[in-house]
Amino acid sequence: MGYKTLCFGLLCILLANYIYLPIPENIEERWKVQFLDAGIRMLSFMAKMFENMGLMKYQDFLSILLRLQLTKPVSDENITVIDTDFSDIPVRLYLPKRKSERKRPAVIYIHGGAFTLGSCKLHPYDYLNRWTANKLDAVVVGLDYRLAPQHPFPAALEDCVLVIKFFLQDTILQKYGVDPTRICISGDSSGGTLAATATQLLQNNPEHKDKIKAQALLYPGLQFIDIWMPSHRDYEHGPFLSREIGIKLGCLYVTEDTALPQAMQKNEHMPKGSRHLFKFVNWSDFLPEKYKKNHVYTEPSLGKLNAFYPAFVDSRLSPLLVSDSQLQSLPLTYILTCEHDILRDDGLIYITQLRKVGVQVTHDHIEDGIHGAMLLITVPYNLHLGLRIRDKYISWLEKNL
Ligand SMILES: *[C@@H]1O[C@H](CO)[C@@H](O)[C@H](O)[C@H]1NC(C)=O
Ligand SMILES: *[C@@H]1O[C@H](CO)[C@@H](O)[C@H](O)[C@H]1NC(C)=O
Repeated sequence: MGYKTLCFGLLCILLANYIYLPIPENIEERWKVQFLDAGIRMLSFMAKMFENMGLMKYQDFLSILLRLQLTKPVSDENITVIDTDFSDIPVRLYLPKRKSERKRPAVIYIHGGAFTLGSCKLHPYDYLNRWTANKLDAVVVGLDYRLAPQHPFPAALEDCVLVIKFFLQDTILQKYGVDPTRICISGDSSGGTLAATATQLLQNNPEHKDKIKAQALLYPGLQFIDIWMPSHRDYEHGPFLSREIGIKLGCLYVTEDTALPQAMQKNEHMPKGSRHLFKFVNWSDFLPEKYKKNHVYTEPSLGKLNAFYPAFVDSRLSPLLVSDSQLQSLPLTYILTCEHDILRDDGLIYITQLRKVGVQVTHDHIEDGIHGAMLLITVPYNLHLGLRIRDKYISWLEKNL
């Protein structure tokens, strides 16, 4: 009895400790966010504990929990939902049932999850893609690219590009009644990274140039170079996505070597001779004054890591690393950034860079926004913030696709 009470007491103290990290004042449904944030930190703590005990890998524990949220392809009165594959990569299609005189627009949606977790079949993505198909009378393609660490960089990107190329074939567009001039690539978080990179690759390939009308990037991560920007500093402990979790999972896309996340924590993971890349991500140059606050620019230190990972100098990992001439050719762009998000500055920098070369960008900044909020739009969470983000994104698509 005494032992159990002691354990229970310790657990309560632990939970309380987790719950009482302050959540910013201006957050909508603050108590709910507080509770969800505590939950995420608890689960991350448990995942770390299980990993330390040698029971299972950190990401495997989170992956098992997420699997509880997988859905079957269920059609409804408006939308036919089909699981199939494109170029051997699993996809879930959302096809509107109502008759249409015109060909339909299409959205290819790339889910987030730090390249390591998630699926287009997770409840919130299934819900979002169905909603998009219904609202826009659009064909929506969700895809399940291969995940890290089993499939490291650039596997995820290769799969996304293969699916998009498959879909862009005339015969396929015709089969699904898609208007080839109204195709958008969208993604959130690491899905936003993949959407941005895939769009760059296609636009700079003569065979596929101008086949994508628009890209929509929802709180995307866009670089692995400088992990100590103002947003990393201000939101290091979350809410929702802490710098530690982001680094721990994100690194797995490159390697399972634990020296990498350690170096990245200290912002000293970049290889010798890569200083010339800093100019692409120099927040001191690209960030609007408002977001710099009192932060002083410090350069990442070079050459501290023994191993060399070519991914870090590759724009297919960090889409911010491309030249102006490559940026110039990019299509109409929507970028949504959240204030309370370690990845905020990645999005802000891309917006500055794209506008500088004349790409048309719509930017929605959510002042009380939190990274990953759209993953919490379904029951039992029904997070209103996530629904607001969804509505902003959908209304942009309605006007622009
Ligand atoms: C079907 O579409 C109508 C009109 O948009 C909507 O009111 C209804 O909720 C939709 N049904 C489902 C199951 O989403
Ligand atoms: C970053 O930008 C600042 C301000 O323009 C400049 O002083 C600094 O040299 C730049 N650093 C690098 C590595 O590009």
